[in-house]
Amino acid sequence: MKITFYGHASLGIQINDINILVDPFITANEKASHIDINGLKADYILVTHAHQDHILDVEAIAKRTNAVIISNFEVISHFQGLGLEGHPMNHGGSWDFEFGTVKYVNAIHTSSFPDGSYGGQPGGFVIEGEHKNIYIAGDTALTYDMKLIPLKTKLDLAILPIGDNFTMGIDDAILASDFVECDKILGYHFDTFGYIEIDHEEAKRKFFDKNKDLMLLKIGESIEL
Ligand code: NI
Ligand code: MN
Repeated sequence: MKITFYGHASLGIQINDINILVDPFITANEKASHIDINGLKADYILVTHAHQDHILDVEAIAKRTNAVIISNFEVISHFQGLGLEGHPMNHGGSWDFEFGTVKYVNAIHTSSFPDGSYGGQPGGFVIEGEHKNIYIAGDTALTYDMKLIPLKTKLDLAILPIGDNFTMGIDDAILASDFVECDKILGYHFDTFGYIEIDHEEAKRKFFDKNKDLMLLKIGESIEL
């Protein structure tokens, strides 16, 4: 499993020959100006919630690639209304896709489309695929619901928001990694805007002091699990 950071909360996940994008918000992110969305491959697009900083480039990429969008019922209804293909889910539900199993899990946040219309309840994803299990938290506060994840799934990587203000910050993300029982963390949802700028060295040191590994990738950089 290969994971690429495209800035903010945008990820590329490659499992065998299948390409998955998560929350593509690239064209309006000045820090990601070197990423061309027309060059991104997508068989599936996972969307955690309806906020602009998670859906901005979904329509353009899905139109070009015919990717299947996976999200909650309300987000999928919205994109189906634009003529795009989607697979609706809701909290606690799992589905076996060709690349692995996806479960839509709780997040504590809000979710409305840019025009104010209802985006359903926000979520995160647990993906079990190619003998690797990952948790993509989405935008969320620290929540006890995270403790449910390791009851069923032994995670190899937890992808957690760490930018604070709109989501968990670093100290709560450390507790979240305890809750999900995973000491390998990829941080996201930081630095894009002034509200969520972080001190990288301090963040890494705080995780290191708890015997945890926080990875912060450059935009466009990948890791192999
Ligand atoms: Ni949000
Ligand atoms: Mn966000």
